[in-house]
Amino acid sequence: MSTHSVAEGSLPHRFRALWDQLAPIGRDPDSGGYLRYAFTAPELELRDWFRAQADQRDLPVTSDGNGNLFARWGDPAAGDAVLTGSHFDSVPHGGAYDGPLGIVSAFLAVDELRAAGVAPRRPLVVAAFAEEEGARFGVPCLGSRLLTGALSPDRAAGLRDADGVGLAEALGDRPAGARPDLLGGFSSFVELHVEQGRALVDQDAPVAVASAIWPHGRWRLDFHGEGNHAGTTRMADRRDPMLTYAFAVLAANKEARLRGAHATVGRVRVEPNATNAIPSTVTGWLDARAADPETLATLVEAVRAKATERAGRDGTRLTCTEESATPLVAFDGGLGRRLATLLDAPVLPTGAGHDAGVLAGHLPTAMLFVRNPTGVSHSPAEAATDTDCAAGVTALARVLTELTCG
Ligand code: GLV
Ligand code: MN
Ligand code: MN
Ligand code: MN
Repeated sequence: MSTHSVAEGSLPHRFRALWDQLAPIGRDPDSGGYLRYAFTAPELELRDWFRAQADQRDLPVTSDGNGNLFARWGDPAAGDAVLTGSHFDSVPHGGAYDGPLGIVSAFLAVDELRAAGVAPRRPLVVAAFAEEEGARFGVPCLGSRLLTGALSPDRAAGLRDADGVGLAEALGDRPAGARPDLLGGFSSFVELHVEQGRALVDQDAPVAVASAIWPHGRWRLDFHGEGNHAGTTRMADRRDPMLTYAFAVLAANKEARLRGAHATVGRVRVEPNATNAIPSTVTGWLDARAADPETLATLVEAVRAKATERAGRDGTRLTCTEESATPLVAFDGGLGRRLATLLDAPVLPTGAGHDAGVLAGHLPTAMLFVRNPTGVSHSPAEAATDTDCAAGVTALARVLTELTCG
């Protein structure tokens, strides 16, 4: 979202100049959304852009063998580095800001520190994490999970995209897996991210600090029935898994509402996917999130139990497989509280997953959110003004000054 009245050379103006370089990459002209799946041509182009930006700033770039990129400012011998950054990849037809805003802001924050003559005592590292959305290989935060050892290279090597391409092939090598040597060299991580709801609009503030990430996960629900002819099979003789699936979607919605939680089935696959055939199998992916782990567990169990009971009545069968799980992340115990005081910013929990949630188990970690005037995300309607993005850069630069010099 451009801000037309900003002065040449001002931070909003410099933000816009950098942002415009990314705008065409992976944009679908029909939806206006982005198709930036990990290791596909648009995402590789964004990685080239990352290397070029790092190069312009004399920041040497390394990879961790898991698809994550790191651009370093400062001598590694000067102590553990402060890490900042986010991801380039998008959901299908996602917004422009989810991910790239954190990387662009990190480079601009480096510029701010340099322009202010800040001489960090600790190195500063800008990161681009791989496959945060899980849109290609199904596991969100794939790069940070591999880096931290939360996902084994063996399991990762077995992941395939919708075309059957394996992760190792996409990555160009087998993933390296856990890198305690690298993680041990970071003192903290701060991820700046566009807000994915309306809290900052409601509170009339441009920037917030995250207090927590709700526990969340993905479950694959396979409904098995009997494929058959749509015109000749009597209604009473059908074993139609679409009915059980539809019931499960409604049950998920109801159970989530009852608990103040969130449940979504945003992806579905039907076999054989023919208008004139009763499906043999329907697979739906349940995304469920709640403020605490107990509520999340009872929500998923209630959906599974209700759908299983319904399957009995439909003559179908349900299998439920957990594909990923992310525990509750509480940021407000340490670094988050310190940053909220430093910035005098509101503090918000979020239901969205982030690499920061994975790294929080290993490093003091915090997040900053930048106001999103539409409150919409994972959609082309996601937005942020240049002025608010500049406020985000300023906040990040303050935080990085504090963490690298303090
Ligand atoms: C990623 O953005 C997620 O929260 O699903
Ligand atoms: Mn996202
Ligand atoms: Mn994101
Ligand atoms: Mn996310």
